Amino acid sequence: MAGKVPRMKLGSQGLEVSSQGLGCMGMSSFYGPPKPDSDMIALIHHAIASGVTFLDTSDIYGPFTNEILLGKALQGGMREKVELATKFGLSFADGKREIKGDPAYVRTACEASLNRLGIDCIDLYYQHRIDTRVPIEVTVGELKKLVEEGKIKYIGLSEASASTIRRAHAVHPITAVQIEWSLWTRDCEEDIIPTCRELGIGIVAYSPLGRGFFGSGPKLVSELSDQDFRKAFPRFQPGNLESNALIFDRVNAMATKKGCTPSQLALAWVHHQGTDVCPIPGTTKIENFNQNIGALSVKLSPEEMTELESCTSVDLIKGDRSPNVLWTWKNSDTPPLSSWKA
Ligand SMILES: NC(=O)c1ccc[n+]([C@@H]2O[C@H](COP(=O)([O-])OP(=O)(O)OC[C@H]3O[C@@H](n4cnc5c(N)ncnc54)[C@H](OP(=O)(O)O)[C@@H]3O)[C@@H](O)[C@H]2O)c1
Repeated sequence: MAGKVPRMKLGSQGLEVSSQGLGCMGMSSFYGPPKPDSDMIALIHHAIASGVTFLDTSDIYGPFTNEILLGKALQGGMREKVELATKFGLSFADGKREIKGDPAYVRTACEASLNRLGIDCIDLYYQHRIDTRVPIEVTVGELKKLVEEGKIKYIGLSEASASTIRRAHAVHPITAVQIEWSLWTRDCEEDIIPTCRELGIGIVAYSPLGRGFFGSGPKLVSELSDQDFRKAFPRFQPGNLESNALIFDRVNAMATKKGCTPSQLALAWVHHQGTDVCPIPGTTKIENFNQNIGALSVKLSPEEMTELESCTSVDLIKGDRSPNVLWTWKNSDTPPLSSWKA
């Protein structure tokens, strides 16, 4: 099975990853109860054997338990086979939710992630959310030191605005920007995607299946456990869900016509955005994982892309993409460097 998944360059600094990644968040957190370690380790090993080597985690997934899980999965020679991405910047210490990007926090978070993952160096280290109290130059300045010390190889940003990306990139090359990008979340196309392309930054599309909605449609919502944070998502609320279900019906009908599944069609749409885009669908099931790599073989003509986009046009989508829009790129501009007192 190895070799089935093509490789791609992510950014301009030399990082090479599988052209589809594996989002590991739902294995440990946010999407219902944590799944058994042994099953998730088997899934991760299956992904690596299939050629999906770009693994995505964060210290906040659990918190911490997803990194610990990956640490276990990467033992026994697996670490050398993968490109490991993790993130810092969302802190839930002492029951207080906070976004943190000051230099001392960045360093402590990195050391702690290295420790949990049981590795010497993180391949791609993202700032998960931007701390709007700290000039981005200061946060990236500390990340630059971590690169120089060999603790991280490449720097990424997640949910950063175009101007924040630009300022960060002036301090140290940014290799990848991670952003929500899918058939029904396209606001990044206006500013963020063109900025990444201008600067040669790779694009990592998170939640490319619309948080699972393009996998199973409204059925997903009726099956969510009480612990699943998607229960609070505006697009899944009564009133919005009935309208959004029609979008799924259209995508599903197109998939049937095309001879693929709706999740494959949704993922293929992301793959067709360009060779600089790497989607990282999340799954906890080998069966769904296998289906998702099948998306790499789904070819869409320009006419089919247009048809698909008309099925999911913005006026048809009801509800914000997230219950907490304050914690997205729209609120990620930081103060000027001159204002910073260390
Ligand atoms: N930077 C950020 O702020 C941020 C935010 C969110 C997520 N992420 C990252 O992005 C990754 C992916 O995003 P996501 O997990 O939110 O959303 P997603 O990839 O859009 O969807 C994941 C959901 O789709 C289901 N699914 C996967 N493949 C399927 C298939 N073939 N058929 C039917 N259902 C399928 C999964 O369920 P099963 O487990 O049952 O397959 C899961 O519920 C995360 O794991 C995380 O690493 C980053």
